[in-house]
Amino acid sequence: MPQLKGLILSGGRGTRLRPITHTSAKQLVPVANQPVLFYGIRSMVEAGVTDIGIILNPETGGEIRDACGDGSQFGARLTFIEQTSPDGLAHAVLTAEPFLGDAPFVMYLGDNLLQGGLTGLVQQFQANQPDAMILLQPVDDPRQYGVAELRDGRVTRLVEKPAEPKSDLALVGVYLFTKRILEAAKAIEPSPRGELEITDAIQWIVDQGDRVEPHVVHGWWKDTGKLADMLEANRLILDVIERRVDGEVVDSQIDGRVVVEAGARLERAVVRGPVVIGAGAVITDSYIGPYSSIAAGAVVERSEVEHSILLERAQLIGLEGRIESSLLGRDVVVRRGERTPRAYRFMVGDNSEIEIL
Ligand code: G1P
Repeated sequence: MPQLKGLILSGGRGTRLRPITHTSAKQLVPVANQPVLFYGIRSMVEAGVTDIGIILNPETGGEIRDACGDGSQFGARLTFIEQTSPDGLAHAVLTAEPFLGDAPFVMYLGDNLLQGGLTGLVQQFQANQPDAMILLQPVDDPRQYGVAELRDGRVTRLVEKPAEPKSDLALVGVYLFTKRILEAAKAIEPSPRGELEITDAIQWIVDQGDRVEPHVVHGWWKDTGKLADMLEANRLILDVIERRVDGEVVDSQIDGRVVVEAGARLERAVVRGPVVIGAGAVITDSYIGPYSSIAAGAVVERSEVEHSILLERAQLIGLEGRIESSLLGRDVVVRRGERTPRAYRFMVGDNSEIEIL
């Protein structure tokens, strides 16, 4: 089999992560202080796939290009491909046809995280040479995913977000394809929601009598499209970090697996890992509890945070209660006010959510 290329779909609008995605691409929301997209790029490179196309949309594309650069930071060569209209995953594949040529490829949805990496999958695909390979995992609510039905270990039917799922096997957002998928994408019609579905394209390959190999994934898999999933992905990644304290630590206590980047400063802080604290963050008279990612330049003063993600330069100052299971965007400020009358005062963007004690 010829050398595999990579295709990462990073054009999704991220409506379920608003308001964060009003101003930033969902694929750049950090998990353990690294954009979620970077995990996909790195796992491709690890599997020997270094010629990678990245599908972008016109609105968030510039920001993604800037974050990725030419790919040399990952040891990859990146080609950016603009999908001008959000017409579905199979449409994205067609948009990438000039880049893909005849090459087989790994396709990866840019907001997915897969624990086991891609190396074993790429090897299996090259050894067995099916026309396509799909990854599956049993989930609690299959209605939110593409769903596969198997008989005797063979794929019989694939349905995108069925109202009444016939199985609990969800399609993971990682696929291995031959050029057959391009033919399929050209043959299918748009779904009821008006998109060319990758799920329908794979079904077309099944219908032609060709071989679609299913692979059930046993390690964890996360589609980080929603806040709860984002926090869980953050937890899963933080669970495997190793302790490294390069920042400045004054009169503070650091327990367990904690990363403090150079340039961060902790003063009279208690940090209980797993936690990452980015460069230039300043934590004073505060508690940072397990499963928190504090991005570069964030400020936490006289406050307590646990199981949360703070983006660049977010500030938490003088809060009485502990913050948990929260995602604070860049430059967000949450602080105790000194003015009277004592009242809640908000200036909050569209689609924000606030839950008070
Ligand atoms: C997409 C696919 C779906 C797949 C899911 C995995 O859905 O259409 O088949 O199960 O990714 O993350 P989306 O998350 O774009 O709604």
